[in-house]
Amino acid sequence: MSKVEDVKIIELPKYLDSRGNLSFVEQNNHIPFHIKRTYWIYDVPGGENRGGHAFIRNQEFVIALSGAFDVVVDDGQNRASFNLNRSYYGLYIPNGLWRTMENFSTNSLSLEFGSEHYSVEDYIREYDTFLKMKSNGQI
Ligand code: TYD
Repeated sequence: MSKVEDVKIIELPKYLDSRGNLSFVEQNNHIPFHIKRTYWIYDVPGGENRGGHAFIRNQEFVIALSGAFDVVVDDGQNRASFNLNRSYYGLYIPNGLWRTMENFSTNSLSLEFGSEHYSVEDYIREYDTFLKMKSNGQI
């Protein structure tokens, strides 16, 4: 049963260099799961939100490769907002949390790693259903 407190900002390695900086992530290291999927969100029009659902099994790791946005997480009782605005920080989001991505800056680029392949059945898209499953201990 994941809680908002289980969501973690993880500082990634960074090699500062006059030629340009470099950061990296490794699965089962900075990313605390085996990566099955990578996707990215870009060209988000001003004022639009993404997410607005929970995953039953999928864990995620989110990096703001460019620009900035907020990730709001909710466990049915508590809510927290994380502002991602540097490419050397990642946000680990366990499964079983409601999450929304908001306040995308112009030209922001969000990179997301998932622990599961894409599956429609893994999504909970109704907040009431999420609350019921959370209170039943199903997620
Ligand atoms: P969705 O998860 O709803 O986007 P977000 O949570 O970021 O707002 O995905 C939007 C569409 O993209 C959805 O119709 C299914 C498709 N999709 C895939 O086919 N594979 C994927 O890995 C993801 C994340 C989405």
